[in-house]
Amino acid sequence: MEHGELAGKTIVLGLTGGIACYKSAELTRLLIKAGATVQVVMTEAATQFITPLTMQALSGRPVFTSQWDGRIDNNMAHIDLSREADAILIAPASTDFLAKLAHGMADDLLSTLCVARDCPLLVAPAMNRQMWAHPATQRNAATLRGDGVTILGPGSGEQACGEIGDGRMLEPEDLFEALAGFFQPKRLAGRRVLVTAGPTFEPIDPVRGLTNLSSGKMGFALARAAAQAGADVHLIAGPCALATPYGVTRSNVQTAQQMYDAVMADLSHGPHHDIFIAVAAVADWRVRDVARDKIKKAGDADVPTLEFVQNPDILAAVAQLPTPPYCVGFAAESGDLETHGAQKRKRKQVPLLVGNLGPATFGQDDNEVILFDEAGQQRLPRANKASLAQRLIAEIATRLPSRAPG
Ligand code: CTP
Repeated sequence: MEHGELAGKTIVLGLTGGIACYKSAELTRLLIKAGATVQVVMTEAATQFITPLTMQALSGRPVFTSQWDGRIDNNMAHIDLSREADAILIAPASTDFLAKLAHGMADDLLSTLCVARDCPLLVAPAMNRQMWAHPATQRNAATLRGDGVTILGPGSGEQACGEIGDGRMLEPEDLFEALAGFFQPKRLAGRRVLVTAGPTFEPIDPVRGLTNLSSGKMGFALARAAAQAGADVHLIAGPCALATPYGVTRSNVQTAQQMYDAVMADLSHGPHHDIFIAVAAVADWRVRDVARDKIKKAGDADVPTLEFVQNPDILAAVAQLPTPPYCVGFAAESGDLETHGAQKRKRKQVPLLVGNLGPATFGQDDNEVILFDEAGQQRLPRANKASLAQRLIAEIATRLPSRAPG
């Protein structure tokens, strides 16, 4: 979740009857924190699970529950509320409400709003697994998909009724991510993207090793932005404590050699990748002989000496494949980025290199970069890593060679 990511967006958040209503309180908080205006509308049943007062306090706006509400001057709440909305999200969406939506029924404020809307509708089903699996519910979900409604989840796992299966409402963070992604242009729809991120860890012995200060934030932000742009994203990450971005497939590795092997395995099997983005801060060297047992401290004068060997250069190796994906490299330099960046792009033979301005970007939330490509250099304004990642994905998308027909 990023501050300001949904600034200017108005979301009608509809709650229907279900125990998952408590999760919608947290979802409201996330939406508000991201800058959205949240207008909560609840069905009568939803008010049995969470009070309108709670939702009003979190959203900072009066909550609507009835089509007979006299607070709107023209008494047309169903028109006014949906006219302002950039999207309507129903979370939780009960079995009954899905059935009503599928049939275009409009017998309360929320269902009327959905029929009278002029904006996208997203629904997050929440119900017992048997109710979700019921043919009528499945039929209704299929009808809604056919009508262009986006169905988020449901997830699977432990349910409030004690059973285990499909039907749980997605977690608030996942619903937030799905909604934030929904608003992003689908510049990479149908494309396959491979991203490396984070540091690597090169062992010395079973308890010690060498690593660097890369937090993984920029690589994870790029994986997230690529997924939001509609791509199928595989993220190969060195050791870092970051949550996997929504909709991204992640593999964890430790060493540079493992990262190289994972990248090559992915590129040589399965369908062709369109883009490779190398954001990982890969260790250039590893210890030649990793001690099998912990190296013990002997006398004061007896300090160990480490001998290093070169690690494979993953980016350069990918760029030299017979039919390489579009390769994007990153460079963190301690000085003279203009010269080093242009040289590094040529040396690695990649079409695009992103140079970090300033050595202190590791672990920070924002970043300033220069793009190096065949045409020259372009400096992008300083931004937080999430919006910078979205900008970089847009820059990559415009440079991407168009697909060969067929
Ligand atoms: N890279 C890689 N494999 C390596 C080293 C680097 O894939 N073994 C990638 C990084 O992910 C990054 C780019 O190459 O996209 C540049 O990394 P950097 O460490 O700046 O470059 P080096 O080749 O190590 O050059 P130098 O240390 O001389 O600056």
